[in-house]
Amino acid sequence: MLYKLGLIGHPISHSLSPWIHQQFLDLAELDGEYKLYEGEHEALPGVLKHLKEIGIDGFNVTVPYKQIIVDYLDEIDKDAEILRAVNTVVNIDGKWKGYSTDGEGYVRSLKEPYPNLLNHETTVLLLGAGGATRGIYRALMGQGVATIDIANRSQDKAKDLLSLRLGDVNSNVLSYQEAEQQLAKYDLIVQTTSVGMKPNVEDQVIQLDHINKDAVVSDIVYQPITTQLLHDASERGANIHHGHAMLLYQGQLAFEKWTGKNLDVAHLVDKLENKLRGE
Ligand code: ATR
Repeated sequence: MLYKLGLIGHPISHSLSPWIHQQFLDLAELDGEYKLYEGEHEALPGVLKHLKEIGIDGFNVTVPYKQIIVDYLDEIDKDAEILRAVNTVVNIDGKWKGYSTDGEGYVRSLKEPYPNLLNHETTVLLLGAGGATRGIYRALMGQGVATIDIANRSQDKAKDLLSLRLGDVNSNVLSYQEAEQQLAKYDLIVQTTSVGMKPNVEDQVIQLDHINKDAVVSDIVYQPITTQLLHDASERGANIHHGHAMLLYQGQLAFEKWTGKNLDVAHLVDKLENKLRGE
């Protein structure tokens, strides 16, 4: 069979997903295609009608359609419903079911290099309170960690995130200044905002003076590969985890939902890094 896969969003012309999924198709020895279906808002109903007509097997959904897509689904996974966002749609016997693979993809990418990091004693600090933060919060909570604190520029937005009741875990809202002062108590610090992304590569959401050297600092930004925050963490002797690994594992989970293949993709992290560096 020829798998028909793709991505909807706008703008998506620079997306790495076609490259990533071609790697997965090759690895799984499956025939298939992963195409970009770009369209502005007015074009969305037409794009989706086309995908129905061609019998697409599955597709990813990115900005700005992660919420509006829900109106076009036959079914929605519980996690995606709670998060109010869908990034992966699977065609199950002609019916479209929506999932969110962001958070679980993140956790998979983290457990690969740090298999013992997440347990009932782990103390986590999330920097940011946006859409990406929500998925990561819920997935980390699902790992049974002890605490997930949230620091954000707007503390109201962080409180709003907690009011969604994404789960039952000890959580406090902090200012960035408070987070900096208490930094030593965290085992995992996850940067979930766009701060530090190209071209503003000097920007760093908090300073790491008080970091615990055994901690892992993770950044969802992958352009540049090593953000200022990760660079700083490394210099201070802490462990780091790159954003492009998360990107890869979100794709791996989507691919698994479409094809049933759970691929070992660890070796593709470096290959993706080279691709991002333009090598
Ligand atoms: P997304 O859904 O893509 O995560 P979002 O919901 O707009 O985007 O969230 C963006 C996150 O980045 C928020 O945590 C935002 O902080 P505020 O809630 O205080 O706005 C954070 N963010 C974006 N630009 C920032 C900046 N220059 N400094 C600090 N935080 C920033």
